[in-house]
Amino acid sequence: MTRAYFITGTDTEIGKTYVACALLHAFRQQGLTAIGMKPVAAGTDAAGHNEDVEALIAASSITAPRELVNPYCFADPIAPHIAAREAGVTMRAEPVQAALQALGEIAEVVVVEGVGGLVVPLGENFDAADLAEALSAPLILVVGMRLGCLNHALLTAAAIDARGLKLTGWIANRIDPAMNRFEENLATLQAVLKAPLLGVVPHAAGGVETAAASLDLSRLR
Ligand SMILES: Nc1ncnc2c1ncn2[C@@H]1O[C@H](COP(=O)(O)OP(=O)(O)O)[C@@H](O)[C@H]1O
Ligand SMILES: [Mg+2]
Repeated sequence: MTRAYFITGTDTEIGKTYVACALLHAFRQQGLTAIGMKPVAAGTDAAGHNEDVEALIAASSITAPRELVNPYCFADPIAPHIAAREAGVTMRAEPVQAALQALGEIAEVVVVEGVGGLVVPLGENFDAADLAEALSAPLILVVGMRLGCLNHALLTAAAIDARGLKLTGWIANRIDPAMNRFEENLATLQAVLKAPLLGVVPHAAGGVETAAASLDLSRLR
């Protein structure tokens, strides 16, 4: 049975991709075949490639067609539902479910990076949390450790509960290495989040492969 995890975060630019790649390496280091997936990406380079998708592909142990790894890709780095509307695309869960199923046939673990935060709109009455639900993938929350993260983490955890989703673990990512009272903030999050802390990822600890060593997958429920 393939395992899939949906990586959400306290915000955009807080290390979801970085941690998703570290997770892929951690699973690979356990001898599992692992592949990354980015259902919705916004922002491409001259070659039409999205940076998150490329990073996930590079961290995966097997390759798959890009359209399976990244079913929806938009050129402009803007809110995805706006990018979709401008492109005349209506995003739906079904193509993503089908792509995940196909990836599940070739890999033992699929690490799915969400888009933005948990309730980012993807269309009318359809947001990232709906996508996570449709994929039946438990959530891993990446907390970008910086001032303001307690509020963002608690709001996200509350939304996960309210939407009937399952938080299976969280990861503290040291996006701001100069954060004041880091240990106290970490302790507060450990006290209030009802899921296990899978690890503290240091700032720029020699890249995602090294960062994998900070993650304890045995704590995944
Ligand atoms: N632990 C870390 N150490 C160093 N740089 C990091 C770390 N986590 C994230 N970054 C960097 O911060 C930026 C945003 O991270 P990214 O993973 O792209 O965020 P998100 O996917 O949440 O938008 C990237 O340039 C990434 O390389
Ligand atoms: Mg990302």
